[in-house]
Amino acid sequence: MNDKQAVALEAASYVKNDMIVGLGTGSTANYFIDALAERQRTEKLRITTVASSNISMIKAQSAGLTVLSLSQLSQIDLYVDGADEITPDNALLKGRGYDLVMEKLLAKAAKQFIVVADKSKLVSRIGENFAIPIEVMPFAWQAAKRSLEAIGGVGELRQNVAKDGLSITSYGSLVLDMRFDASLDADRLNALINNIPGVVEHGIFAKLASTILIADQGQIETRV
Ligand code: A5P
Repeated sequence: MNDKQAVALEAASYVKNDMIVGLGTGSTANYFIDALAERQRTEKLRITTVASSNISMIKAQSAGLTVLSLSQLSQIDLYVDGADEITPDNALLKGRGYDLVMEKLLAKAAKQFIVVADKSKLVSRIGENFAIPIEVMPFAWQAAKRSLEAIGGVGELRQNVAKDGLSITSYGSLVLDMRFDASLDADRLNALINNIPGVVEHGIFAKLASTILIADQGQIETRV
Protein backbone atom coordinates (compact mmCIF):
# COMPACT_ATOMS: atom_id res chain seq x y z
CA MET A 1 0.00 0.00 0.00
CA ASN A 2 1.38 3.44 -0.90
CA ASP A 3 1.20 6.55 1.31
CA LYS A 4 -1.74 8.08 -0.56
CA GLN A 5 -3.74 4.86 -0.06
CA ALA A 6 -2.77 4.76 3.62
CA VAL A 7 -4.12 8.26 4.38
CA ALA A 8 -7.21 7.63 2.28
CA LEU A 9 -7.98 4.49 4.28
CA GLU A 10 -7.44 6.36 7.54
CA ALA A 11 -9.82 9.13 6.41
CA ALA A 12 -12.43 6.54 5.44
CA SER A 13 -12.42 5.32 9.05
CA TYR A 14 -13.83 8.74 10.13
CA VAL A 15 -17.05 8.07 8.15
CA LYS A 16 -20.09 6.92 10.11
CA ASN A 17 -23.59 5.74 9.17
CA ASP A 18 -25.96 8.37 7.74
CA MET A 19 -23.22 10.89 7.03
CA ILE A 20 -23.23 13.15 4.00
CA VAL A 21 -19.68 12.96 2.68
CA GLY A 22 -17.94 15.40 0.29
CA LEU A 23 -15.62 13.74 -2.21
CA GLY A 24 -12.45 15.50 -3.35
CA THR A 25 -10.56 15.37 -6.62
CA GLY A 26 -7.20 13.84 -7.47
CA SER A 27 -5.33 10.58 -6.94
CA THR A 28 -5.52 10.62 -3.11
CA ALA A 29 -9.22 11.51 -3.16
CA ASN A 30 -9.73 8.65 -5.63
CA TYR A 31 -8.29 6.19 -3.12
CA PHE A 32 -10.72 7.63 -0.53
CA ILE A 33 -13.65 7.05 -2.92
CA ASP A 34 -12.49 3.44 -3.38
CA ALA A 35 -12.14 2.94 0.39
CA LEU A 36 -15.61 4.39 1.02
CA ALA A 37 -17.21 2.21 -1.65
CA GLU A 38 -15.48 -0.79 -0.10
CA ARG A 39 -16.88 0.05 3.36
CA GLN A 40 -20.35 0.48 1.84
CA ARG A 41 -20.07 -2.97 0.21
CA THR A 42 -18.57 -4.91 3.09
CA GLU A 43 -20.04 -3.14 6.16
CA LYS A 44 -23.31 -1.97 4.55
CA LEU A 45 -22.36 1.57 5.59
CA ARG A 46 -25.24 4.01 4.84
CA ILE A 47 -23.86 7.19 3.28
CA THR A 48 -24.73 9.85 0.75
CA THR A 49 -22.04 11.77 -1.12
CA VAL A 50 -21.53 15.05 -2.97
CA ALA A 51 -18.65 15.42 -5.44
CA SER A 52 -16.22 18.31 -5.92
CA SER A 53 -15.85 17.64 -9.66
CA ASN A 54 -17.49 15.84 -12.55
CA ILE A 55 -14.62 13.36 -12.69
CA SER A 56 -15.09 12.42 -9.00
CA MET A 57 -18.86 12.19 -9.46
CA ILE A 58 -18.38 9.71 -12.32
CA LYS A 59 -15.86 7.68 -10.32
CA ALA A 60 -18.12 7.59 -7.24
CA GLN A 61 -21.19 6.61 -9.23
CA SER A 62 -19.38 3.79 -10.99
CA ALA A 63 -18.15 2.56 -7.59
CA GLY A 64 -21.80 2.33 -6.47
CA LEU A 65 -21.98 5.42 -4.26
CA THR A 66 -25.06 7.68 -4.24
CA VAL A 67 -24.05 11.18 -5.36
CA LEU A 68 -26.34 14.17 -4.81
CA SER A 69 -25.80 17.72 -6.03
CA LEU A 70 -24.88 20.50 -3.60
CA SER A 71 -28.21 22.20 -4.33
CA GLN A 72 -30.05 19.23 -2.77
CA LEU A 73 -28.13 19.45 0.50
CA SER A 74 -28.36 21.83 3.43
CA GLN A 75 -25.31 20.45 5.24
CA ILE A 76 -22.26 18.23 4.74
CA ASP A 77 -20.83 16.21 7.61
CA LEU A 78 -17.38 15.49 6.30
CA TYR A 79 -15.33 16.54 3.26
CA VAL A 80 -12.17 14.62 2.35
CA ASP A 81 -9.80 15.98 -0.28
CA GLY A 82 -6.12 16.18 -1.22
CA ALA A 83 -4.00 19.30 -1.57
CA ASP A 84 -1.15 20.52 -3.76
CA GLU A 85 0.70 22.28 -0.90
CA ILE A 86 0.36 22.33 2.91
CA THR A 87 2.14 25.03 4.96
CA PRO A 88 3.28 24.72 8.61
CA ASP A 89 0.21 26.74 9.72
CA ASN A 90 -2.13 24.43 7.75
CA ALA A 91 -2.94 26.72 4.86
CA LEU A 92 -3.51 24.74 1.67
CA LEU A 93 -2.95 25.31 -2.00
CA LYS A 94 -5.53 23.50 -4.11
CA GLY A 95 -6.97 23.63 -7.59
CA ARG A 96 -4.48 21.96 -9.88
CA GLY A 97 -7.53 20.16 -11.25
CA TYR A 98 -9.28 23.53 -11.68
CA ASP A 99 -12.43 22.74 -9.72
CA LEU A 100 -11.79 25.48 -7.19
CA VAL A 101 -15.33 26.71 -6.73
CA MET A 102 -16.84 23.38 -5.71
CA GLU A 103 -13.79 22.43 -3.67
CA LYS A 104 -13.97 25.61 -1.60
CA LEU A 105 -17.76 25.45 -1.26
CA LEU A 106 -17.53 21.91 0.12
CA ALA A 107 -14.58 22.78 2.39
CA LYS A 108 -16.56 25.68 3.85
CA ALA A 109 -19.90 23.86 4.10
CA ALA A 110 -18.55 20.72 5.78
CA LYS A 111 -18.66 20.35 9.57
CA GLN A 112 -15.27 18.65 9.25
CA PHE A 113 -12.73 19.00 6.40
CA ILE A 114 -10.07 16.29 6.39
CA VAL A 115 -7.06 16.83 4.12
CA VAL A 116 -5.25 13.72 2.92
CA ALA A 117 -1.71 13.92 1.54
CA ASP A 118 1.69 12.34 1.46
CA LYS A 119 4.65 14.31 2.77
CA SER A 120 5.62 15.55 -0.72
CA LYS A 121 2.92 18.22 -0.23
CA LEU A 122 4.61 19.86 2.77
CA VAL A 123 6.06 23.31 1.98
CA SER A 124 7.43 26.18 4.04
CA ARG A 125 5.23 28.82 2.33
CA ILE A 126 2.20 28.94 0.04
CA GLY A 127 3.20 29.04 -3.63
CA GLU A 128 6.59 27.42 -3.03
CA ASN A 129 6.10 24.63 -5.59
CA PHE A 130 3.15 25.83 -7.66
CA ALA A 131 1.69 29.05 -8.99
CA ILE A 132 -1.60 30.10 -7.30
CA PRO A 133 -4.53 29.06 -9.53
CA ILE A 134 -6.99 31.94 -9.81
CA GLU A 135 -10.31 31.29 -11.55
CA VAL A 136 -11.58 34.38 -13.41
CA MET A 137 -14.67 35.31 -15.40
CA PRO A 138 -13.75 34.98 -19.11
CA PHE A 139 -14.81 38.55 -19.99
CA ALA A 140 -12.82 40.00 -17.06
CA TRP A 141 -9.52 38.12 -17.23
CA GLN A 142 -7.45 41.06 -18.47
CA ALA A 143 -8.78 43.42 -15.77
CA ALA A 144 -8.32 40.77 -13.09
CA LYS A 145 -4.76 40.07 -14.32
CA ARG A 146 -3.90 43.78 -14.14
CA SER A 147 -5.20 43.92 -10.54
CA LEU A 148 -3.18 40.82 -9.65
CA GLU A 149 -0.07 42.35 -11.25
CA ALA A 150 -0.63 45.49 -9.15
CA ILE A 151 -0.14 43.35 -6.00
CA GLY A 152 3.03 41.81 -7.46
CA GLY A 153 1.59 38.80 -9.31
CA VAL A 154 3.33 37.39 -12.38
CA GLY A 155 1.71 34.75 -14.54
CA GLU A 156 -0.43 33.75 -17.50
CA LEU A 157 -3.69 32.11 -18.44
CA ARG A 158 -3.52 28.36 -18.06
CA GLN A 159 -3.41 26.51 -21.39
CA ASN A 160 -4.86 23.13 -22.24
CA VAL A 161 -2.60 20.07 -22.18
CA ALA A 162 -1.92 20.27 -25.94
CA LYS A 163 -1.01 23.98 -25.53
CA ASP A 164 -3.24 24.90 -28.46
CA GLY A 165 -6.11 26.39 -26.44
CA LEU A 166 -7.05 27.65 -22.99
CA SER A 167 -8.08 25.57 -19.98
CA ILE A 168 -11.75 26.02 -19.18
CA THR A 169 -13.04 25.07 -15.72
CA SER A 170 -16.08 22.84 -15.13
CA TYR A 171 -18.17 26.00 -14.84
CA GLY A 172 -16.81 27.88 -17.87
CA SER A 173 -14.20 30.15 -16.25
CA LEU A 174 -10.54 30.72 -17.21
CA VAL A 175 -7.60 30.15 -14.86
CA LEU A 176 -4.66 32.51 -14.26
CA ASP A 177 -1.65 30.75 -12.72
CA MET A 178 0.12 33.52 -10.77
CA ARG A 179 3.29 33.65 -8.69
CA PHE A 180 3.77 36.21 -5.91
CA ASP A 181 6.58 37.53 -3.78
CA ALA A 182 7.63 35.08 -1.05
CA SER A 183 7.01 37.76 1.62
CA LEU A 184 3.22 37.51 1.06
CA ASP A 185 1.90 34.74 3.33
CA ALA A 186 -1.27 32.72 2.76
CA ASP A 187 -3.54 34.93 4.92
CA ARG A 188 -2.37 38.15 3.26
CA LEU A 189 -2.61 36.75 -0.27
CA ASN A 190 -6.02 35.24 0.50
CA ALA A 191 -7.33 38.65 1.60
CA LEU A 192 -5.76 40.52 -1.34
CA ILE A 193 -7.01 38.11 -4.04
CA ASN A 194 -10.49 37.89 -2.47
CA ASN A 195 -10.77 41.64 -3.00
CA ILE A 196 -10.22 41.62 -6.78
CA PRO A 197 -13.31 41.99 -9.02
CA GLY A 198 -13.61 39.36 -11.76
CA VAL A 199 -12.01 36.66 -9.59
CA VAL A 200 -14.45 33.78 -9.09
CA GLU A 201 -12.27 31.79 -6.68
CA HIS A 202 -8.63 30.96 -5.98
CA GLY A 203 -6.58 28.05 -4.70
CA ILE A 204 -5.53 29.33 -1.26
CA PHE A 205 -7.56 27.54 1.42
CA ALA A 206 -6.67 29.42 4.60
CA LYS A 207 -8.10 28.28 7.95
CA LEU A 208 -10.45 25.75 6.36
CA ALA A 209 -8.88 22.38 7.20
CA SER A 210 -10.03 20.84 10.48
CA THR A 211 -7.77 17.77 10.31
CA ILE A 212 -4.74 17.06 8.10
CA LEU A 213 -3.52 13.49 7.66
CA ILE A 214 0.03 13.26 6.30
CA ALA A 215 1.59 9.93 5.40
CA ASP A 216 5.32 9.34 5.38
CA GLN A 217 6.48 5.80 4.56
CA GLY A 218 3.40 4.21 6.08
CA GLN A 219 3.36 6.40 9.23
CA ILE A 220 0.44 8.80 9.50
CA GLU A 221 0.76 12.17 11.26
CA THR A 222 -2.55 13.74 12.33
CA ARG A 223 -2.60 17.54 12.55
CA VAL A 224 -5.71 18.99 14.19
C1 A5P B 1 -7.64 19.26 -7.22
O1 A5P B 1 -8.09 20.43 -7.81
C2 A5P B 1 -6.58 19.56 -6.21
O2 A5P B 1 -7.00 20.51 -5.28
C3 A5P B 1 -6.21 18.23 -5.59
O3 A5P B 1 -6.75 18.09 -4.33
C4 A5P B 1 -4.76 18.02 -5.64
O4 A5P B 1 -4.28 18.24 -6.96
C5 A5P B 1 -4.28 16.73 -5.06
O5 A5P B 1 -4.03 15.75 -6.02
P1 A5P B 1 -3.30 14.39 -5.68
O6 A5P B 1 -4.07 13.74 -4.59
O7 A5P B 1 -3.37 13.61 -6.98
O8 A5P B 1 -1.89 14.70 -5.31
